Amino acid sequence: MALWGGRFTQGPDQRFKDFNDSLKFDYRMALEDIEGSQAWAQALSEVGVLSADECARLEAALSELLAEAQQDLAVIAQAGDEDIHSYVERRLIEKVGDLGKKLHTGRSRNDQVALDLKLWCAKAGERISASLTALERELIAVAKNHVADIFPGYTHLQRAQPVTFGHFVLAYAQMFERDYIRLQNALSLIKATCPLGSAALAGTAYPIDRDKLAHALGFAAASANSLDAVSDRDHVLELLSCASISMMHLSRLSEDLIIYNSGEAHFVDLSDAVTSGSSLMPQKKNPDALELIRGKCGRVCGALTGMLMTMKALPLAYDKDLQEDKERLFDALDTWHDCLDMAALVFSGLKLRKEEAYQAARGGYSNATELADYLVARGVPFREAHGIVGRAVLYALEKGKALEDLSVDEFEQFHSSIGGDVYVALELHNLIAKRSVKGGTAPAAVLAQLQELEAKLKTRA
Ligand code: ARG
Repeated sequence: MALWGGRFTQGPDQRFKDFNDSLKFDYRMALEDIEGSQAWAQALSEVGVLSADECARLEAALSELLAEAQQDLAVIAQAGDEDIHSYVERRLIEKVGDLGKKLHTGRSRNDQVALDLKLWCAKAGERISASLTALERELIAVAKNHVADIFPGYTHLQRAQPVTFGHFVLAYAQMFERDYIRLQNALSLIKATCPLGSAALAGTAYPIDRDKLAHALGFAAASANSLDAVSDRDHVLELLSCASISMMHLSRLSEDLIIYNSGEAHFVDLSDAVTSGSSLMPQKKNPDALELIRGKCGRVCGALTGMLMTMKALPLAYDKDLQEDKERLFDALDTWHDCLDMAALVFSGLKLRKEEAYQAARGGYSNATELADYLVARGVPFREAHGIVGRAVLYALEKGKALEDLSVDEFEQFHSSIGGDVYVALELHNLIAKRSVKGGTAPAAVLAQLQELEAKLKTRA
């Protein structure tokens, strides 16, 4: 049964129907459509369109439908109706007869779909918030075990200065914490305004208390402009943007771990549980989980770009183009959710190869800055010290030695103030411990960072 047809003399071409129908993907909003319909029935009864008895019967039938949908959501996709709104109305009429035909009074699928999608977004956002929190907790657990373990720190993918592995891991925890906050901001905007009662575009003709209706559905207020409300998909863009930024973080994390796990670096070992073999090369153990996360970042960012293009130049108010919002949103949020869970799984089995990481951190003259600071402490202006150390590095390179392998005599060629205490300064643990400023890599600072983040997460479910 279609929701329209009176002014048509001919049915739709099957190819058009296949092209136009959205039930095959918008079935996922069944619970939200029913929830919105229950609130609408209540609103209609308050303005006398439905009697109390009619409202009760409709609500009971809708509750039955809700329970059925909760049992098996996916089966709805096959029902053949045009969209989820048509499905719910048809099933309602099957249950309560002609009374079911009254529910759509004063409502349009335009405000209905706008509401359903907002409700769906809010729930999806909660699910993803939980996954972000779980990943942050996993990262904190790993960082806790490696607060003082030395790891090479990079800039330009060249060894720069040593850091601790805990500090590296928490860098990503901070990114996911921002993703969490960004998502909460987006969710609070979603729940700020309720579009129901905007009807097709001009507002419903029934004197419904829209703010009351909005509150009943968990929103702060009714939307202020019906033209805007039925065609606003900012929340879709915002969620896709949150997803894209977070996927970019996940992709960077994946890339780092792929490099660190490579034969060339081999500072970490990925667990067998998240790697796969080659059908030809028996020795291979490939970082597929991480590569897939990195690859899926493109898919999610593509969804954001696609949605921006759909919205661009869209005339007010509702246009069918807007039906293009759902598939990519559903796919992008599912993907984001799965990638967050997968990243947590990767970390739960990750092993740091402490000795390899330490040796790599020792190489690459990553304690050169420390030698410059050592000279600064002896009165040499930093820029001059920089030049002196640069020459010392060049000399050491030619000799095939590390800085700390040079003798005091050799050091003295570069500056007379360098003495036997230079070796303590160049020792990695010592130079790391000096970076105890807030946000620094010293174990004490990493511990403080860890505790601060942990305290934030404690208040979360
Ligand atoms: N399936 C439609 C969508 O997703 C529902 C709204 C249809 N409204 C309309 N006027 N045809 O946007």
